[in-house]
Amino acid sequence: MDKIVVLDFGGQYAHLIANRIRRLNVYSEIKDASTKAEDLLEYKGIILSGGPLSVFEENAPKFDSEIFDLGVPILGICYGHQLLMQTLGGKVEKGKIKEYGLAELEIEDQKSIFKNLQDRPNLSSQLLGRIIENVWMSHGDEVTELPIGFETLASTNDCKNAAVWNPEKKIVGIQFHPEVTHTDKGMQMLDNFINICECSRDWNLEHFFREKVNEIKEKVGNKKVFLLISGGIDSTVTYLLLAEALGAHNVYGLLVDTGFLRKNEREEIEITLRKLGVNLHVHDGKEEYFEALDKVYNPEEKRKIIGDLFVKILEKETNKLNITSGDWMFAQGTIYPDTIESGGTKHSDKIKTHHNRVEKIQELIDEGRLIEPIAELYKDEVRDVAAQMGLDEKLVWRHPFPGPGLAIRIICSEKEFFPDRAFELEHRINLLLQPKRLKAKIFPIRSVGVQGDARSYKNPVAVHGIAEFAQLEKVGTDLINKYPILNRAIYCVSDSEIINYGLTEGLKLTPNRVELLQKADEIVRKAIEENNLTRKIWQFPVVLIPININGRKGESIVLRPVASEEAMTANFYKLPTDVLKSIVLDILSLDGISGVFYDITNKPPGTIEWE
Ligand code: XMP
Repeated sequence: MDKIVVLDFGGQYAHLIANRIRRLNVYSEIKDASTKAEDLLEYKGIILSGGPLSVFEENAPKFDSEIFDLGVPILGICYGHQLLMQTLGGKVEKGKIKEYGLAELEIEDQKSIFKNLQDRPNLSSQLLGRIIENVWMSHGDEVTELPIGFETLASTNDCKNAAVWNPEKKIVGIQFHPEVTHTDKGMQMLDNFINICECSRDWNLEHFFREKVNEIKEKVGNKKVFLLISGGIDSTVTYLLLAEALGAHNVYGLLVDTGFLRKNEREEIEITLRKLGVNLHVHDGKEEYFEALDKVYNPEEKRKIIGDLFVKILEKETNKLNITSGDWMFAQGTIYPDTIESGGTKHSDKIKTHHNRVEKIQELIDEGRLIEPIAELYKDEVRDVAAQMGLDEKLVWRHPFPGPGLAIRIICSEKEFFPDRAFELEHRINLLLQPKRLKAKIFPIRSVGVQGDARSYKNPVAVHGIAEFAQLEKVGTDLINKYPILNRAIYCVSDSEIINYGLTEGLKLTPNRVELLQKADEIVRKAIEENNLTRKIWQFPVVLIPININGRKGESIVLRPVASEEAMTANFYKLPTDVLKSIVLDILSLDGISGVFYDITNKPPGTIEWE
């Protein structure tokens, strides 16, 4: 089987590259950036991923320069491209502008990775002999001089050497990310790279399934497995793999009700899992969770406490059941993005600690007592496996729901937080928005974001006035790019103007707030189901923020529908006006709700969840 290796410089998308290559039926795996060339002999191509650092930083990761002697094609992406060019004698400089988001790539010649991009030439290619493609950028530095033997293949307005190549050595460098879906023809470009590598295409998910079943049998032997199950597609597919490999009687499922599930969710999950034959035990942990989170405001602290308590409950349950370590293993349905965003690979920045990567879980992994059979997969691949296994379509297409549940969708407020010179900035933003007849306020709360492959925890800007989604998308992106002390933009959908607002200080996670959010979330869930939007929207977090507006008491809701394929990047989803209107009216009628907002931030720079 021919393989391509991705050297991981810590980019948020490193594994996505491997995922894409596998989707093109070539097996691809990830190795650390510093892997020695002698350990890469089995690969027919090498891809250098992006990364959070700049090549100018002292501890910037490097690759073994002997990989050039292997004589296989190399593709450098983003940081990988810059490092490649610098190593080969080119020049990298700090870019004048940081470029995040969509850019137009002008391709001079349809060769190398740009072969066959279009069946028929479009107007611009007829006029100029060139074609334009949408690509996704996320960088600060740029390559300004090329090494000998390289030529420029494509440029954007802000980046001259956006794609370069050396035809003789078959080395390609690109500044944009072909692996994310926003790069319209990204798959075709990677497909072309596979052709340059002359790889045979003989890998698929069935292959994966068979291999995993064997691997589980080998790792677990004749022990029993204790599976942490949530009722979502990931842990359900994990269960089915384990049951196939070990027999259902050897797998025991534990569902922990943290108190942060959606309305009626626990009951629904129980019915589904019991139907599948899961030997299920449910632990009601509501009281323990509220007590543990009683004094907590900070999102990372929340996540840690939730994860640690989860493990404590697990220990309690296993003791109760008299499960001794020797006879039992643990399993969970972690998928790839859960590990990458927790800083799970050597060079990546920690965006959020996912509940399945907290310290105690890590200890179990280190002791070799926890297996994660689908940890290399992305959601789209898990859904494919699930469909092949014949799981119910509703379950296959169920929106992902994070382990910490609604707890990370309820923003707590110890006290107000404004960045330095917030009011001066707000004034400047308002001057900028004046011609568009929009206004904005910087809210004194914070949410998590991902900018240039690194975590951010910053304030949102709330835009108000009359506007269309297309205009708002541009406004949101521009404001965050221009003012890096912000990482999120929201738009007021309940009122045409925010005359005044207030922050309720000292709000924590309480059963009342959970109940209020559950009600709003239920309104949203019903509306999208009734309007057949479940499959079009990838995920729809509904967030409770401790802000009241225009003299109305209570808190506000932020709607966060996103379109995505794998959650590593996402665009905010534009709901049809009639659906949005009915959702807003229903939510406003809830007792305790003051206003409704719409999150108009893409990922990056915002993450999907607020915390
Ligand atoms: P973000 O917010 O980082 O989320 O854009 C990416 C995807 O991951 C989900 N998510 C989690 N899933 N445990 C999980 O199982 C977690 O702790 C967790 N945090 C975020 C999020 O819902 C989105 O689908």
